[in-house]
Amino acid sequence: MIPAPLGMLAELTHACPLHCPYCSNPVALAPRDSELSTQEWDRVFGEAAALGVVQAHLSGGEPLLRRDLDELVASCGRHGLYTNLITSGLGLDADRLARLPVDHVQISVQDATERASDDIAGTRSWARKITAARVVKDAGRPLTLNVVLHRANVDHVGAVIALAGELGADRLELAHTQYYGWALRNRAWLMPSMEQVLATAEVVRAARTRMEISYVLPDLHTGTPKPCTGGWGRTQLTVAPGGEVRPCAAADSLPLEFANVRDRSLDWIWYSSPSFNRFRGTDWMPDPCRSCALKDVDLGGCRCQAFQLTGDPGATDPVCRLSPDRHLVDAALAGPPQTAPFPRPHAPKGPSS
Ligand code: SF4
Ligand code: FES
Repeated sequence: MIPAPLGMLAELTHACPLHCPYCSNPVALAPRDSELSTQEWDRVFGEAAALGVVQAHLSGGEPLLRRDLDELVASCGRHGLYTNLITSGLGLDADRLARLPVDHVQISVQDATERASDDIAGTRSWARKITAARVVKDAGRPLTLNVVLHRANVDHVGAVIALAGELGADRLELAHTQYYGWALRNRAWLMPSMEQVLATAEVVRAARTRMEISYVLPDLHTGTPKPCTGGWGRTQLTVAPGGEVRPCAAADSLPLEFANVRDRSLDWIWYSSPSFNRFRGTDWMPDPCRSCALKDVDLGGCRCQAFQLTGDPGATDPVCRLSPDRHLVDAALAGPPQTAPFPRPHAPKGPSS
């Protein structure tokens, strides 16, 4: 029995004004002229709602760079979808927000201070982000502040929590870097030490009595695989800017063929496509997962991580302490030069048109 999906990540574009080294977008970004049109997205939102999706997360890249974003948000509303705008905040002023009847806004900052945040974003953006956050609150909309954590900012989590309080954020999302796309290239620069991770967890634990904070210990450090995206093809789907549909945003790197909404219905893709069925359930699992009591809890961990580290998307997630490939993770954890200053190694420059 395959459950209906609950959430859809709609990657409206890979274009973005920021150049974050932890970006999980593909290293080969989708060109702008390959993006789904307004009409195509309208059909996709309708098919998603019919399939059972209740939440549409409008993301990118930077979704505000879509000139038709007003129409896309209106389309979501017509189809009864709850809309969450995931944005850098650049380009979001009171006039633009008034034309976007989204239910929720998530704004990212890269650190707790202007200089550090702009350094990581690779562009001057802090002031506009803070203004955008205030605009959202002034308009009475729910706001989540999002910060991706890595070695250069993880020690500033106390200041980030204070910033979220000052902005009146309803929720703070502290997300450790996931090593896909650009972030995988830059892993040696981004990976925090075990000491940093443990200290951060303590700061977060103390602050949770005052604020809603979403924070999960990084799987690489704990040795506990995450039930990635709630399980392969179980609750979420991602539609890429060019229309390819995948169980997660990072799956473009996998040696699987993903169907496109230009050729197939979302219903067929979800229920019948070989790629969505490839890692559903537990029958595909190798040992030690196959005979493990936790296989219904972590649902096999992360397929993208397994592929990136072992070359086999069907391997046991090497994060797991029972995996025969765990030494690959231990080597990555031991690798980073913990005292090096934060460099700007590789970062997305935006797709071509
Ligand atoms: Fe998000 Fe930064 Fe990547 Fe833009 S460059 S998509 S803000 S992570
Ligand atoms: Fe793709 Fe985890 S990111 S399965």
